[in-house]
Amino acid sequence: MYEKFKRSEWFRHDRFGLFIHWGLYSIPARGEWVRGSEMLSDEEFMGFFNEFNPSDYNPREWAKIAREAGMKYAVMTAKHHDGFCLFDSKYTDFKSTNTPCGRDLVREFLDAFRAEGLKVGLYYSIIDWNHPAYPAYQHHSHPHRTDEAYKEREPFENYLKYMHGQVEELCTNYGHLDIMWYDYSYGEMRGEKWEATKLVNMVRSHFPDIILDNRLEVSGEGFGSLATEHPTVYSGDFVSPECIIPPEGILNELGEPIPWEACITLNDHWGYAAADDNYKDETVVVRKLIECVSKSGNMLLNVGPDAEGRFPDRSIEILREVGKWMKKNGNAVYGAMKSEFPKPEWGRYTQDGNTVYALVLDPPVGPLSLPGIPAKRVKSCRLLNDGSELKLFNDWRTGNFEGMAYVNIPRYSMYDKILTVVKITLKD
Ligand code: GLC
Repeated sequence: MYEKFKRSEWFRHDRFGLFIHWGLYSIPARGEWVRGSEMLSDEEFMGFFNEFNPSDYNPREWAKIAREAGMKYAVMTAKHHDGFCLFDSKYTDFKSTNTPCGRDLVREFLDAFRAEGLKVGLYYSIIDWNHPAYPAYQHHSHPHRTDEAYKEREPFENYLKYMHGQVEELCTNYGHLDIMWYDYSYGEMRGEKWEATKLVNMVRSHFPDIILDNRLEVSGEGFGSLATEHPTVYSGDFVSPECIIPPEGILNELGEPIPWEACITLNDHWGYAAADDNYKDETVVVRKLIECVSKSGNMLLNVGPDAEGRFPDRSIEILREVGKWMKKNGNAVYGAMKSEFPKPEWGRYTQDGNTVYALVLDPPVGPLSLPGIPAKRVKSCRLLNDGSELKLFNDWRTGNFEGMAYVNIPRYSMYDKILTVVKITLKD
């Protein structure tokens, strides 16, 4: 299994990553699409450019929060659809080093997260509402889609030179990258329209082992050729379902499991949205992370920093609580995947070789049944929270329901309100 996906071995082990959406849109604070969705004028958006000065930006603090939450990798926007570059690109003046902050935000992000031991990636929007050669009139989400003055554009190859040039800057000026996260393809704008083969060959000439998402071919909608028998050069290394967890995991057309990563907002926006308090709390985050792992997938959980360069307080609180659970139970995540045993009704299994993790959502009356796992296969059971021994159990009660092992968790006080984990070591 996964022989075709050697490159993503570390990714499929680490399972849990931080997504960061940050940029000028943090000032209007209505999400990352604000320039397009509200069709803001260039003058208004340039106003944010002339103002942007996130004086509290301290990416080392962000990196500590991510590491302590149990996250193993992080991906930050280098450029989003509005075209603003968070890095010092020679191809444009529309960049963070030209704003009052004068800083290369990408470089500081990469340095800080590497220093905290996380793998690092960059999100790069192949859509660009700012570039004079990018289609605008009657085009998709462009802020000038209704403006006839935007019918005539420079030749599209001027944009491709710009886009490929910037991606090469990111691959040559900022040290090793572990992930490049493109976003996104639509309509006829996909694949070779982006000169994707040339782009990917260039990136891999710098970083042969970098892993790519699948959005040079698709968006959050569709899997792309990665799910076919013959993936293209630019298929990417993982499928990127967005704000949904695949009900059954993801298989290719041959029925083989393929790597996938669910990217999920912590509230309902990627970019900072001041009025959006609809946060997923730590219980939801942990249980959804386990759901991803139980289906052999990853979770990339997003935080949208504000205009001052701060993570929202609620995001920090949630990640801190997630970290407390991960500190004791992370082994049920890292290196784990879908179990060979069927999903139990009281929760989920994850599995790492001969170790099965029973993640109990709904404590039983009496002993905990272990559906699919015969008692004769069980070598030992431990409460992962503290390593304490748990004993297999059977008596006249379980005798009525044979064919599986039962484990006794003697006190309800031993259960964790988020998820209780029993580590089951199987006999070889
Ligand atoms: C969608 C959104 C984009 C966001 C991305 C994250 O493409 O349009 O704003 O960056 O999802 O996956």
